[in-house]
Amino acid sequence: MSREMYNETNLDKIEVNAEPPIEEPARQYYFMAKCREWVREFERINGRRPSFFTQTFGCQMNARDSEKLSGILETVGYQSTESEQADFVIYNTCTVRDNANQRVYGRLGVLNRYKKSNPQMKVALCGCMMQEPTVIEKLKKSYPFIDLIFGTHNIYKFAELLYTSFETEGMLIDIWEDTDRIVEDLPVERKYPFKSGINIMFGCNNFCSYCIVPYVRGRERSREPREIIREIERLVADGVVEVMLLGQNVNSYGKNLDEPITFAQLLQEVEKIEGLQRIRFMTSHPKDLSDDLIAVMKQSKKICRHLHLPLQSGSTRILQQMNRRYTREQYIELADRIRREIPDIAITTDIIVGFPGETPEDLEETIDMVRRVKYDNAFTFIYSKRTGTPAAAMENQVPAEQVKEGFDRLLKVVQDTAREQVAKYQGRVMEALIEEVNESDASLVTGRLSNNTIVHVPGDASLIGKIVPVSLDECHGFYYIGHCV
Ligand code: 5AD
Ligand code: SF4
Repeated sequence: MSREMYNETNLDKIEVNAEPPIEEPARQYYFMAKCREWVREFERINGRRPSFFTQTFGCQMNARDSEKLSGILETVGYQSTESEQADFVIYNTCTVRDNANQRVYGRLGVLNRYKKSNPQMKVALCGCMMQEPTVIEKLKKSYPFIDLIFGTHNIYKFAELLYTSFETEGMLIDIWEDTDRIVEDLPVERKYPFKSGINIMFGCNNFCSYCIVPYVRGRERSREPREIIREIERLVADGVVEVMLLGQNVNSYGKNLDEPITFAQLLQEVEKIEGLQRIRFMTSHPKDLSDDLIAVMKQSKKICRHLHLPLQSGSTRILQQMNRRYTREQYIELADRIRREIPDIAITTDIIVGFPGETPEDLEETIDMVRRVKYDNAFTFIYSKRTGTPAAAMENQVPAEQVKEGFDRLLKVVQDTAREQVAKYQGRVMEALIEEVNESDASLVTGRLSNNTIVHVPGDASLIGKIVPVSLDECHGFYYIGHCV
């Protein structure tokens, strides 16, 4: 793990008995200093530092947010642990599909038991699920042992909330409906020393009819390009070679800035950062993907050969009901154009099965699309009804058996296509960023190609974080076994 402390803020120099500053991030550093006093007192009484455990549900955005939570906890003196029986446990939740919510409720039962055996233990919940009023009602009623609940918009206030919860009996809840704030320069604890996610924007304005994200993450806000560049420069100075630019719809980046800039222009600026070797981004909305972006990717030495381009459905009728604002034909044309311009690119996608009103014929169109576009990988999801979204009120919800049958059929085609696509590179030498020692065989290390394919090669931990040429010897379905050359 590796920590980024942005300003020269030295917590020792902060006057903790003064009034808290109004401006950010100074206010949060003040509360970090207060929390650290609390931690020291804990240490004095217990003869050890308090431990913390974070659990992330959901997407890369949440993973990055959790790094921010860890950064603050470590800064104030907590010690990270892999055990859920920690002094402070925080779940960063997801609510994009109902099974994510169910997993959280399931784990909470376990936490309640741990808490009974460690009365000092504190439990916190944050993230997308907390933005739903029905969830908060349920937590208040059935899970009263939770100490702290906050949402997506005020995560930057975590230090302040943590300190306030030390001082509060019972459940502290702070949920904001929306925000236009972006607070820069808080500490972050990275999971990987050599790669990092970077938020370039927050929220979403698209309101796809099935999706809860715009309601729980709020309206689209872009970060200033100079802040993004400054953050990446600091990361590179700290050993990062690969960045993943994160946003719900990166293709509409920059539109709401005082000095508007396009995503393609931002990428060109990021490309100039010396020492940075790889650039990834997620997620692209097909309706906003520009020719400029394709051109910039094509001539780039650093942008990875991978595009995640959610399809959701291959039926124009369903796409319209989903409010996706492209047709089947427009998507095909776009995918063809991308493959023509950048032949070695991998295209991956997200697909939903069982959207209200979807017929077997609609699903056939989706399956046909998978064969046509030849996705290198696809994440397939069963439609999940999200309260408050327009699709939840649609009448013709599809029966579960029909969905399951269609899902299995789609999955088989997705897997066959992906296997074929991955196998195309057998025998080639390509560059891989080595990420970790293989989990099941310690004589191997695991790397990632520019096109996001995984390769396992003989080697040891000294290779981690390095980009090395590897020979792709044997294709095993979705990954390769190879060797460094
Ligand atoms: N049901 C199923 N899948 C969904 N997704 C978003 N909302 C839902 C939902 N209600 C999927 C979409 C999106 C991905 C992140 O999650 O495919 O691209
Ligand atoms: Fe949800 Fe659509 Fe926004 Fe993606 S683009 S987060 S699917 S509303």
